[in-house]
Amino acid sequence: MRVLLIGGGGREHALAWAISASPLLDKLFIAPGNPGMEKLGTLVPLKLDDHASIVNFATDNRIDLVVVGPEAPLVAGLADVLVAAGIRVFGPSKAAAQLEGSKDFTKSVAMAAGAPTAAYETFTDLASAIAYVKRQGAPIVVKYDGLMAGKGVTVAETVDEAVAALEALYASEPEARVVIEECLFGEEASYFCLVDGENVLPFGAAQDHKRAFDGDKGPNTGGMGVYSPPPVFTPAIEQRALEEIVKPVAREMVKRGSPYRGVLFVGLMIGPGGPKLIEFNCRFGDPECQVLMLRLKDDVLTLLDGVARGQLKFLSARFRPEHAVGVVMATKGYPGAYPSGTPISGIEEADKMPGAIVFHAGTKGRAGEIVSAGGRVLTVCATGIDLIEARKRTYDAIEKIDWAQGFYRTDIGAKGLAHLKS
Ligand code: AMP
Ligand code: GLY
Repeated sequence: MRVLLIGGGGREHALAWAISASPLLDKLFIAPGNPGMEKLGTLVPLKLDDHASIVNFATDNRIDLVVVGPEAPLVAGLADVLVAAGIRVFGPSKAAAQLEGSKDFTKSVAMAAGAPTAAYETFTDLASAIAYVKRQGAPIVVKYDGLMAGKGVTVAETVDEAVAALEALYASEPEARVVIEECLFGEEASYFCLVDGENVLPFGAAQDHKRAFDGDKGPNTGGMGVYSPPPVFTPAIEQRALEEIVKPVAREMVKRGSPYRGVLFVGLMIGPGGPKLIEFNCRFGDPECQVLMLRLKDDVLTLLDGVARGQLKFLSARFRPEHAVGVVMATKGYPGAYPSGTPISGIEEADKMPGAIVFHAGTKGRAGEIVSAGGRVLTVCATGIDLIEARKRTYDAIEKIDWAQGFYRTDIGAKGLAHLKS
């Protein structure tokens, strides 16, 4: 099979790593990829928003399957133009990707499907939004209705904070649509399901750490570290998430004429009442994908292609019992402003540590060395017989990396360990 993988982050490095091990693979192209993927496939300098060039490349190179990593091209309709050109694609249509592209759409689908989620209302003007916040009181959650790379959400502890978030939003986006919802309490987990129409195949769970600093302090980021499996996501919780949220939502999407095909990332809050839906994403999580690929036992290409062909019901996805941890190394300043081009050494040494593998995201090759070229730069991962071993191996591997401008969280997996002790 000839495969074109779209994206260049840590998630795509992990996908490329898993795809390149598939017995089904003949040739892997990656657009645009990153320096960590050079040994796994041929990097192609295509722009993710240039759909015509992607379709032409796929046609000219007789690509059998296009795997789309990030959400932006999906929300912009890349899967639709590929399908129209007769090319198989792993990733939902533009209409189905609205499950990530619009929070208002997600909430209306969840409500119609009867899926448990926070109570909400949607507003298109500042005055009514502020009046609602004042009526509801705090804590309350304000969400910009569109893609904001995980940065469009304010969990406000006070009414004043919510009002300030709304004022800032409407000052920069006078036409903004906002979803204001009830604040949920509990522990978060990221649940993944492969979906083709009404068929749903559970694809594992992980726990991300969204805040920049230890102890869940600091600003929200795209994700600073992850471990899998998370003890909070028990088999009973999984069963409820599957039956109460994922399956009814998949059916509702079919009913609306926009069946979902791809991986559905289900952001959950697990509280005393069971799992509640926080959000959907139409792609794998980053860094969740990195640890899922490390644990996946079945052939990833068979699964991704099975979704694209609509043959999911004949497939299984099994995971190894090993635990996996991934810690993101980011440039100091992220998620705010940060410098680029700062030198990093020791990646190869880290990669050779027991059970470890380093996935690249924002890196660049410069005169034979690797330098930073983004906010989230590396995901250092390791597997182990249990969470304790996986965690120790990950942090041991990180010790090998020398990067003065980098920072990382030192408490990834600590919540999981606390569960094991309790
Ligand atoms: P989202 O972009 O919807 O995933 O929101 C980003 C983060 O905000 C989530 O990962 C949660 O940590 C937090 N969050 C979003 N919605 C809620 C909610 N209703 N209650 C509590 N926290 C929330
Ligand atoms: N790690 C969370 C996300 O990919 O959105």
